[in-house]
Amino acid sequence: MRIGILTSGGDCSGLNAVIRAAGISIFNNIKGAQLVGIPDGYGGLIRGEGQLLHRDDILGILSRGGTMLGSSRQPFKQMEIVGDDGESKLAKMVRNYKAMNLDCLIALGGAGTHKNAALLQREGCNVIGVPKTIDNDIYGTDVTFGFQTAVEVACDCIDRIRTTAESHSRVMLVEVMGNKAGWLALHAGIAAGADAILIPEIPFSEDKLCDFVASKKSLGKRCVIVVVAEGAHVKSDAGLKRKKRAFVRTELNEVTVTPHLAEYIEEKTGYAARTSVLGYVQRGGTPCAYDRLLCTRLGEAAADFAAEGRFGVTIAVKGNRLVANKLEDVAGKYKYVHRADRMVKCALELGIFLGE
Ligand code: F6P
Repeated sequence: MRIGILTSGGDCSGLNAVIRAAGISIFNNIKGAQLVGIPDGYGGLIRGEGQLLHRDDILGILSRGGTMLGSSRQPFKQMEIVGDDGESKLAKMVRNYKAMNLDCLIALGGAGTHKNAALLQREGCNVIGVPKTIDNDIYGTDVTFGFQTAVEVACDCIDRIRTTAESHSRVMLVEVMGNKAGWLALHAGIAAGADAILIPEIPFSEDKLCDFVASKKSLGKRCVIVVVAEGAHVKSDAGLKRKKRAFVRTELNEVTVTPHLAEYIEEKTGYAARTSVLGYVQRGGTPCAYDRLLCTRLGEAAADFAAEGRFGVTIAVKGNRLVANKLEDVAGKYKYVHRADRMVKCALELGIFLGE
């Protein structure tokens, strides 16, 4: 059996841990199986590149961040567009999958990766998805690998920011990743004892946030911590599509709402406000123990799925079990934070400001 493996989309901690677990499990349990590493996500498959991986290649990488295979983003919308050479990216991938004699492909990735995986499956390739992303927004799974590590990193950064904010008696806006979904902001914010958390799913009122900050300060709080997901937006922008919001911001020379919000808070409340954008630090480095365990389980399960011929699915966490979701059922869908979520309820009951 020849099994391809690739890592696609924005990286996160734990990709190597999954590759390692899948590889060891494949070599130990599937007689005569070969593992083909495809570089740079679907990019490598489009170019027809793949390299046989041996046991030695995948050892010693459990705790290493990034991905030994490299990654790239390959937008779903461009997959079926026929290029100047008369072939679409999808057609190239299918042709190369066949040319590489693959029996199946394990695709580690987020929502975009799963959409492309469903396309490949539709075209007759055998795909097994493994849900990765620090955003934790893949539909149908309780958790994605990489998320917990990002929560730990963000939480640690917020703890550090708090100490300097207290020294200087400042309002601190800490921006975390999360364009469509606010899971990372919500979990890291609660874990770090933030005063306010702004997420894309709950558009916020700037004035109510200012009133909240002022009320905290008037109670004698030296620092007020506001965690802002990069996709957070004000109520008046809620009617706009995400792309339109991004366009409006670009016109204003802004990437996210955070810098403007800091200025607004200073102007309205008179309290000094600063911003800190955590950025790619959340995606890099060693996976935490929770993610290492999850990645190991997912990698081992992917090998089992390959051996059992369970294709056209992505592995999902449901409670403490691993289950299979059909790619066609999850592709193109996201898992958002709902107002009824228990962490939202918990935040509200603790008096954390969530935008309204
Ligand atoms: O999808 C994961 C993610 O980290 C998002 O939270 C973030 O918006 C995006 O990737 C950044 O992607 P890029 O690597 O393309 O800048």
